[in-house]
Order: sequence, then C-alpha cells, then structure tokens
Amino acid sequence: MGTIQIQNLTFGYPDQETPLLSDLSVAFDASWHLGLVGRNGRGKTTLLHLLMGDLQPSQGTITTDLAFHYFPQPLPAQADAMTVSAVLLAISAAEPWQWQVEMQDLGLPLTILDQPFGTLSGGEQTKVLLAELFSAPAGFALIDEPTNHLDTQGRAQTARYLRQKQGFIVVSHDPGFLNDTTDHTLAIEKKQVALYQGSYGVWHREKTAADEREAAEQGQLKKEIKRLTVAERQRESWSNKTEAKVSASADRGFVSHRAAKMMRKAKNLERRNTTAIADKEALLKNVDEVEPLTVPYTPWREPVVLRANAVTVRLAERQLFQPVSFTLNRGDRLQIQGPNGIGKSSLIHALLGQLPTSAVQGAFQIPQGLNLAYLPQTFADPDKLLEAVGPDALKDQTILYWLHKMGMPRPRFLVPVSHWSMGEKKKLLLAAALQKPGNVLIWDEPTNYLDVDTRNQLLAGVQKSNATMIIIDHDREFTDTVCNRRLALVR
Ligand SMILES: Nc1ncnc2c1ncn2[C@@H]1O[C@H](COP(=O)(O)OP(=O)(O)OP(=O)(O)O)[C@@H](O)[C@H]1O
Ligand SMILES: [Mg+2]
Repeated sequence: MGTIQIQNLTFGYPDQETPLLSDLSVAFDASWHLGLVGRNGRGKTTLLHLLMGDLQPSQGTITTDLAFHYFPQPLPAQADAMTVSAVLLAISAAEPWQWQVEMQDLGLPLTILDQPFGTLSGGEQTKVLLAELFSAPAGFALIDEPTNHLDTQGRAQTARYLRQKQGFIVVSHDPGFLNDTTDHTLAIEKKQVALYQGSYGVWHREKTAADEREAAEQGQLKKEIKRLTVAERQRESWSNKTEAKVSASADRGFVSHRAAKMMRKAKNLERRNTTAIADKEALLKNVDEVEPLTVPYTPWREPVVLRANAVTVRLAERQLFQPVSFTLNRGDRLQIQGPNGIGKSSLIHALLGQLPTSAVQGAFQIPQGLNLAYLPQTFADPDKLLEAVGPDALKDQTILYWLHKMGMPRPRFLVPVSHWSMGEKKKLLLAAALQKPGNVLIWDEPTNYLDVDTRNQLLAGVQKSNATMIIIDHDREFTDTVCNRRLALVR
C-alpha cells in the first residue's frame, strides 16, 4: 500500500487575502480510512482537487504513487436523459461486471441500469457513482460529501460498504457517518491543520478540550487584566494628585521623581498586559466562536394554518405516494418522512403551486394572505442559486448579516458566488429564507452541506422559536429534536 506525502504545501485562490492552506506538511497511509473535516469554506474540496492534480500548489509538493478517483465524478452534459448504463460507459474505465458487483454490494437492483439517470433519486445517484468509483482498477478514492442525499438507511448501508474497502479519504459533516467509517481524521481548523488518530469523536473530544482550556485561560487572563487595570488607574490618579499638590511645595523634585517612577512602573505593567493579551488572542484564534441564531417568523392569525385533502403527485404517469390528508396548526413543526425517491420534495412543490395542475391530485386549502417562506434544496449551479435568492441578495445587509452569523468571513462576500463552496452556497439560500419571516417556514433538507457548528446553531434556533414549519431532512437527530408532528409518505 502506498502513502501520500504533503510537504510544505501552500495554496490560495487568486482573490483570497490569506492562503487557504499554509505550509501544510502531513503524511498518510493509503490503507487509512481518513475523514477530512472542517467548517464550510475551509478548503476540504480544494485539498482533494490538489491531490487530484486539478489545482497546483503555489509552494510545496505532493508525493504519491496512487491514482486518485474523485466523487462526485463529472458527468456528461446530457446525463439526466441517458440510461444509467450509458452514463457509466461514458465515465468509467472499468468493465460493466465490475460496477455491477459494487452496485449489488450497495444494495442497488441491477434493473436501475436501464432507467434514465435523471429519474433516480439523489440517494440512488450517489450509490451508482460510488459503485463506479470503487470499480476503478487500482484507484484510491477521494469521496467528497457522499451523505447529503442519502436517507438514514442509505447512510448506514454506505457506511457498511465503505468500512470494508481498503483505504480512502472521505469528506463529511455527518459525525455519525464519520464515526462509522473512518479511523483517522484530518481537521482543517481555524488556524491549523491537524491529524488525529481516531475518527470524528476523537477529534471532537480533543478539540473541545483544547477550546475549553483556551477559554479558561482567557477567563483567568481577563480577571488578571481587570485587576491590573484598576491598580493602574489608582496609581495614575495618585500620581496626578501628587503632581498637583507638589507644584506649590518646596520638595517638588523629590515627589515628582517618585511620581515619575510610579508612572514608569504603570507603563511597564501596561506594556506587559498588552503583550500578554496579544499572545492569548493568537492562541484563541483557533477557537470557532458560534453566536446564537434566532429564526424569525410571523405567526398566522388563525389556529388552523392550512389543510391538505387527499393530495398526491403524479409524475411520468406514476403516482408517487398514497394520497395524504393533514391539517397544519399554528406552532406545528411537521416532518415529511419517507425513503429516497418517494416524492417528499414533490409534495412541497405541489403545496407551493410549482407543479402543473395536471400533476397534482386532491387539493390544498390555503387561506388568502398566508405567506409560505420556502428554503429549497441546494443549487450547485450559481445561476440557479442567484435566481432563487434574487440577483441583489449580496447587496442586502440583512442577508449579509445572517451569512456572517453563520460563520462566513466578510471578505467572502466580495467573491463571485460561482467560486463559493457548497456549504457557502447553502448558507446563502438559508440567509435569503431567514430574511423573509413567513407564516409557514418550509425547509427542504436544511442541514445538507452545512458544517456541524452551523447545523447546531440552526437546530438551537428552531428549537427556541415557535415557528410553524414543514421540514424534510435526513438528519434524524435534527428532525427528532425540532419536529413535533410527522407525516410518512408510502408508495
Ligand atoms: N475557484 C475559486 N476561486 C476563488 N475562491 C474559491 C474557488 N473555489 C473555492 N473558493 C473558495 O475557497 C474556500 C474553500 O473552498 P472549498 O470548496 O475547498 O471549501 P470546503 O471546505 O470544501 O467547504 P464546504 O464544506 O462548504 O464544501 C471557500 O471560501 C471558497 O469560496
Ligand atoms: Mg466542499
């Protein structure tokens, strides 16, 4: 088995003030199941592209004898209309039997090969592409966020599948998935990149302990500074009074001398304090400060907000799920449940009036004036993203305020959205949704692509609010915590 050696690597995009990765030296073994973690925009995807050779470091070297394969693979432009087989033939160097073996290991029926790729659910597409990735002869897999579209069962299945593979690097924001699949962790932290022996839990424990140590030291330091500042003020006032008193006195030289000495002492103290603060601040820079987030909404005036009567959706001549009826009351937080591909998003599109009437059966009762605020799933395509949030979103101070709260450094706002990371794009959608406090907040997979800190910030924010919501998400802990009602779609 080979190794990957990164030596003194520095890389930053041309429009970045400080390099993303700076003088990074790290070596890993190709047999490791390495988790690559870090907040949105820290450079995880960038590091994978540096390994692929798609990007060149401005300094330093990467030495390896491995051939890397990247997930998600670039697809042909017409992929959605092509059959799964045709897509695989177009992108793969492996033999069909090889990817078929992997598909079976991932629990995919082979009949899927004849289906148009575009009709597969996000979770099924993920599995097809993973099967291709591991069918490649003599490859080393770089897997960038495989879990986003997988339902709970799909995540567990994929974790089982990956565990029995030889070695890989996987990027994920899902702690449970990382704990199930990885044995080493490379963390791109705020001020350093650190390698840990162990999975996400090990990193998280050690990082939390380090952050707490720093915070405790900081608390101690603040107390110390306060004490010194008070003492200094007392001395200052004493020396001023003394100066005033002695101006008329005979022994002026002696007292002034004492006052000057005292002043020098105070100045020295002040200098010492300033240095101590600067030292401690440098240390603290590795701590990610996460502010609480409030989720704004406008309560609807009636206790009953809306109703659905025997609603279902028909797409391509197929009824997606059994008709559903429900009443949404003020304060309900309704989770729409169901496996990948059942039609959860389609039900929401029907509610929002985004589907042709011929595709929707049954009816919604939506009172006049009810404001539905919608958070769509992520758009990788920057044009579609800007269409969803509005072309002037980045001139809107409220949206920028939300983005900053979610941990985006202000200089990022000046960079074109086409260069933003997946998580940064997701945050823009969220910020635009938070900026319009509706009567019902309809969130389709809010936690996808978000880093753990932001996901927790959002979870706490929703928990504290009394907003009426409809939520789809595969993050079980998130929905179990925030939702108080459930609607399961069945075929
Ligand atoms: N082509 C580019 N030009 C300029 N900046 C870029 C470009 N691509 C990425 N960036 C920026 O570099 C930073 C790192 O991006 P990257 O995609 O590597 O982050 P990431 O860690 O994978 O984040 P996420 O968790 O959101 O996927 C981000 O701030 C991003 O906006
Ligand atoms: Mg990324």
